[in-house]
Amino acid sequence: MHEPDLVIENIGELVSPPFIHGPHRGHDMGRLTRINDGAIACVGGRIVACGEQSEVSKQIKKTDKTKTVSAKGKLVTPGLIDPHTHLVFSGNRAAEFLMRCQGKTYAEIAKAGGGIVASTTATRQATSDELEELGLKRLSMMLQYGTTSAEAKTGYGLSHESELMMLETILKLHQNQPLELTPTFMPAHAVPKEMKKAEYVDVIIRDMLPAAAELLRKYGWLDSQKAYSDVFCDEGYFTLDDTRRIFERSAELGMSLRVHADEFVSLGAVRLACDLGASSVDHLLAIKQEDIRCLSESNTVAVLLPGTSFFLNLEKHAPARILIDEGACVALGSDFNPGSCHIFSLPMIFGLACMKLKMTAEEALTAMTANAAYAIGRGEDIGRLYSGYQADIIIWDLGALEEIPYKMVWNPILRVFKKGVEV
Ligand code: NIG
Ligand code: FE
Repeated sequence: MHEPDLVIENIGELVSPPFIHGPHRGHDMGRLTRINDGAIACVGGRIVACGEQSEVSKQIKKTDKTKTVSAKGKLVTPGLIDPHTHLVFSGNRAAEFLMRCQGKTYAEIAKAGGGIVASTTATRQATSDELEELGLKRLSMMLQYGTTSAEAKTGYGLSHESELMMLETILKLHQNQPLELTPTFMPAHAVPKEMKKAEYVDVIIRDMLPAAAELLRKYGWLDSQKAYSDVFCDEGYFTLDDTRRIFERSAELGMSLRVHADEFVSLGAVRLACDLGASSVDHLLAIKQEDIRCLSESNTVAVLLPGTSFFLNLEKHAPARILIDEGACVALGSDFNPGSCHIFSLPMIFGLACMKLKMTAEEALTAMTANAAYAIGRGEDIGRLYSGYQADIIIWDLGALEEIPYKMVWNPILRVFKKGVEV
């Protein structure tokens, strides 16, 4: 008999990816556990019983320490997980958005001095306290939209000091508020104005990666919790060879790998990432057929970011249907950043995934819960409603899963529980 500290009952529909070892692949992404009249019991921030209310009540004994919450017949799912954000930056690029509305492309704007480098200028001028405050504000909004864990990248510092300050900001933000962050070091996001690319890549490999690994260890990462290294491998940014060199060094230092691949042009990063056992390959608008096959045979998760195509006003989207039909493990993320996608709402991304990527509601839920958890190295701990999993749970102001895409521009989240505590 469990003596729960939290019981969520009167759940109209309890929906979760089922427990399996590893991420959900291909058509299995559409197979969810769906239970009417459900309940969840938690002890110390972990789920101890979950399923039909009549069954759960047989496994628990409520005490005076038990907090009972009625879901009032609403939809309950795992907390949403965002496996791709550029959370920390200063300034905004609203003018670029309007330039794109008038027909300029992302590449043209970047060439004319906008893009990532413009956000770098603003971010370098901010103090670490200012960056932390901006991050806190964004994280509290993300929680309100149902995100309970997220990945967060550096990449707007582009110098030794500034990139390490961004990384430390992410590590502090993880400690100072409830939404858990998985840190990613990404100095290879763009080449800073003051340096040639070859020189910058050398500095990344020689100085920045070892300093990042040291800082991560100081905050308790890398030994038991995964932290990441990421590269923007695309035309005008970093080559396949740059990416390989950065990744080999990162792996030596104990960092796990993820990559911005095939966003505009395919340079071969997907194959490299699969060969090196990367946790995820992200974007994939320009992915080639042979790379889809190699991805489908690996456990590397394809993180698709439909908000970015939408925000960049592109017709083209990642080939989600082909990836799923071929048996890949697909996740969804926001790509929240100041330039190419200023959207953090995962319910909105859910709607875009159904509309633009032709994903089903079942697939989209798996993609932003269990598979997103595997994309950040935490699939055995978060992303499912299952005994032993962390009690990250959301109650939606909806009756059924199918209403999520329909309500995409509302905030359809009623209550959010993180580690068994309402936030
Ligand atoms: O994921 N592709 C590279 N990085 C971001 C864009 C960041 C920016 O424009 O500031 C992305 O889309
Ligand atoms: Fe990105």
